[in-house]
Amino acid sequence: MEIDELTKIHKHEELKAEQEETLKSRRRRYGLLAWLLFVTLDLFYGRKRTYSKFKVLEVIARVPYQSWEHVAYIAMTHTYGEPGFARRIFEFVKEARQQQDNEQWHLLILEELTQKKNIKENFFLYRILPQFSAFFYYHVAWLLYVIKPAWSYGLNADFEDHAEHEYMEFVKENPELKHEVFESEFSQDYGYYQNLADLFRRIGLDERMHKEESLNRIRNARFP
Ligand SMILES: [Fe+2]
Ligand SMILES: [Fe+2]
Repeated sequence: MEIDELTKIHKHEELKAEQEETLKSRRRRYGLLAWLLFVTLDLFYGRKRTYSKFKVLEVIARVPYQSWEHVAYIAMTHTYGEPGFARRIFEFVKEARQQQDNEQWHLLILEELTQKKNIKENFFLYRILPQFSAFFYYHVAWLLYVIKPAWSYGLNADFEDHAEHEYMEFVKENPELKHEVFESEFSQDYGYYQNLADLFRRIGLDERMHKEESLNRIRNARFP
């Protein structure tokens, strides 16, 4: 089983402790852009935490990583004359890719669950609109990054902090999740969990790690 890339924790007790830690920690003070995004999402999808709403979050979650990757490739085109420097940029690309892939598993697992549960979704709200939002968000993340990378990381840290809290709250308010077995086509890729409660705790923990990585980037900017 090769699911080591983000030091996966599978033990129930540890995941439970991580959930407690999130629940007792305060949310970040969200910036204006992040706040606007969350308010807009609540407006369209309601405040209730649902599988379908989480999917919308996950569609959007991937794009800052894509935008950073894009900028980094352009930067490598300009700097390959200094291979040492270009290589450091490439390390950055690999990290962004890993997080992007991690968000991708979240999305696929959620989609699989919605299909199994036969949850009906409005095509415009849950297919078209998320793609438009992701397109828009991509350009915001890209533009902020070009102006000042710390702004783009700050926005992403807000987004990830929000996702972390939402997942952990979701587990808290749905105690029946611990009776639902997690059987997935994606277990080989994402890991094996006893039940859906532990699965969502793990996803919440991933979001916290994404947040920490963005905050680290702000603290020790190596690139650009
Ligand atoms: Fe995610
Ligand atoms: Fe995330």
